Amino acid sequence: MPEPTREAVIEALRTVQDPELHKDLVSLGMVKLGDLRDGVASLVVTLTTPACPLRESIERDIRQALAPVGVREVKLHFDSKVAAGRAVADKASLPGVKNLVAVASGKGGVGKTTVAVNLSIALARMGSSVGLLDADVYGPNVPVMLGTTAEPKALDERTILPVEAYGVKMISMGLLNPGDRPLIWRGPMLHSVLQQFLRSVRWGELDYLVIDLPPGTGDVALSLVQSVPLTGAVIVTTPSAVSLADVRKAVEMFRQVNVEILGVVENMSYLMCPHCSKRVDVFGYGEGRRMAEMFGVPFLGEIEIEPQIRVGGDTGKPATAFGEDFPGAKSLFAMARQVAARVSVVNLGGQAPNIQIL
Ligand SMILES: Nc1ncnc2c1ncn2[C@@H]1O[C@H](COP(=O)(O)OP(=O)(O)OP(=O)(O)O)[C@@H](O)[C@H]1O
Ligand SMILES: [Mg+2]
Repeated sequence: MPEPTREAVIEALRTVQDPELHKDLVSLGMVKLGDLRDGVASLVVTLTTPACPLRESIERDIRQALAPVGVREVKLHFDSKVAAGRAVADKASLPGVKNLVAVASGKGGVGKTTVAVNLSIALARMGSSVGLLDADVYGPNVPVMLGTTAEPKALDERTILPVEAYGVKMISMGLLNPGDRPLIWRGPMLHSVLQQFLRSVRWGELDYLVIDLPPGTGDVALSLVQSVPLTGAVIVTTPSAVSLADVRKAVEMFRQVNVEILGVVENMSYLMCPHCSKRVDVFGYGEGRRMAEMFGVPFLGEIEIEPQIRVGGDTGKPATAFGEDFPGAKSLFAMARQVAARVSVVNLGGQAPNIQIL
């Protein structure tokens, strides 16, 4: 076979699509051809997130596309650059923060904080810079789950530095001493309290700022959702029948205020019986996926009931902090990859499909 030309290689790369963005890698500007010599092609592929779930399939497709044009070896290097959400860029109100991702639920106790904390740690472990804002003013649980009670440093009256745990920058009202709270915390307008809070934190450069919203679709959640430029929202649910109405409420709230719904996560999906290793569908398995389909939003994955997830939450040692092989962590990492992928799709203006193929 003759030596491949640069043109032939690039033409071949045009046949490789990003499976989520539905465009070819060349048009997306995701691939660069470096050296091409003696049938050896050096490529750099820039993913839209280091947590990209499609890395392997993109690599396989590139190799398959280049073989027929005479490339006998592909030296592939991956890097990543997280794009900034359009809403964030427009409002430019949180400088340095590329994407704000809210974690919400129609009702309390479904595992919202567990998802927010583990999503943050998983994204950070996969190579992104991540912040976590605990916006649950009534029951700020994030400090306990992250195992930190460190008091944030205040640079001046209007600037707070976040604390850091497991590679995640975090701020929570639960960290602030009542005596230290600025007067405005005690004011009647929770809305302005949260606003103040949000804008006084110096996050630095972040790919993702995850926001643990207060439970439900009440005023606090609603005003927060409207006041920050969210890239999108993740809705957490459990598969019980009552959750359906709660998910509907949450979906409607976000649609009303034009916030993109990144998808639904089904938490406490099932239990793996430690005695017989069979799946026990405690609440009725698969409801989350069905709900997502019904509401026309992506399904982001299911997380089993895992005692280690609860213990980790109670003791400030979240499952994802111990890697993917830790009990419960695999599904949490998979969920984080799906969230990151949806953020990329939203930022590049893609249409969210009705059903997420996992
Ligand atoms: N997949 C899971 N497996 C086992 N325990 C879980 C799982 N998800 C959450 N939990 C446990 O369930 C309890 C409630 O979870 P969490 O605090 O995350 O819910 P929440 O929706 O944030 O609640 P709230 O509405 O009070 O803020 C916690 O004790 C947590 O450790
Ligand atoms: Mg919570």
